Amino acid sequence: MKVILFHTNKDEVDYIKECNTRFRFELEFTDFDFNTAEAGRFTGYDAVWILTNCKVTKEKSEQLAEAGVSYIVSRAAGTDHLDLVSMKSAGLKGANVPRYSPNAIAEHTVCLALMSLRKMKLELKMIDNFDFTLNGLKGRELRNMTVGVIGTGRIGLETIKILNGFGCRILVYDIYENQEVKSLATYRPLSEVFSDSDILILHCPLTKENERLISSDTIATLKDSAVLINTARGGLMDYEAVLTAIESGKLGAAAFDVYDNETSYIRKKVEPDSFESNVLKKLMSKDNVIYTAHMSFFTDTAIENMIMTTFENLYEYEKSGQCANEIT
Ligand code: NAI
Repeated sequence: MKVILFHTNKDEVDYIKECNTRFRFELEFTDFDFNTAEAGRFTGYDAVWILTNCKVTKEKSEQLAEAGVSYIVSRAAGTDHLDLVSMKSAGLKGANVPRYSPNAIAEHTVCLALMSLRKMKLELKMIDNFDFTLNGLKGRELRNMTVGVIGTGRIGLETIKILNGFGCRILVYDIYENQEVKSLATYRPLSEVFSDSDILILHCPLTKENERLISSDTIATLKDSAVLINTARGGLMDYEAVLTAIESGKLGAAAFDVYDNETSYIRKKVEPDSFESNVLKKLMSKDNVIYTAHMSFFTDTAIENMIMTTFENLYEYEKSGQCANEIT
């Protein structure tokens, strides 16, 4: 099988090549832009290996099918970058990596919560400026907090397990309840999770139903000084509303690993003057806002698991045309 790989970091290439000694695919690493590439670039490949910043739209599906590509293997867990209906109607098969290390995202999420509560962004800036005072640094303790978690799937469960060790009260909401979560946290209606939480964490996928779940209306129902954490997807939040709530003091802090339209700049070094998102720029300038650039998944364990499962997905497709992680 001939495979073209997008968005592989330099430090991953050796590991990918090492794994491939087992699978023996014909691999082609490339640095051209998947989203803007013309059809001819994909000719001759059986499969494309992509990440979340590669958007598979209706046009891209048709283009790939026309070029002779049969399989799209995404190294990610989320699937909102893939138009699955169009992929299917173009005759493309696709697979993802549903579970590479939910713990990686969970640990990052709890790290963001702790950093927000202990005002760590401000403290690090002060230390960089040789300011060793405690001005503005009084924090809050996680143990005393009520934490709301929306989405109790693989990642939500890991976050809840970690939070449990801190001794905080945990309220959760999901469209489906999970028995294991029930032994660690209390399911409540969504409106109560909003109104009763000191920290609100998003761990649900982005769907048509929950787009802009965090809006000026729902922020108004949060406790004063609540902390908002989003390591799920940018489309879940109205960031302008978040900025307004940070500026008014309604929100005590916000921390997020994902942003709307992040594909235009993510994984690139950008000149500050050419950076287009004014809202994000303003949010980034706040001492009580932490932004990480979609990197909560980025650990050694997660990357190794992502790569190995992607190889296994390709191997299954090659052997049988089927794959256990099929998403189309
Ligand atoms: P999962 O599929 O195991 O769990 C998602 C849970 O959300 C399910 O229990 C589902 O029932 C629930 N859910 C769906 N719609 C909902 C709604 N409207 N309200 C409340 N709950 C809802 O997925 P997993 O692995 O836990 O990942 C969750 C999300 O995290 C992914 O969809 C992805 O968007 C994001 N993610 C972010 C990463 C990052 O690097 N920042 C890395 C991996 C995933």
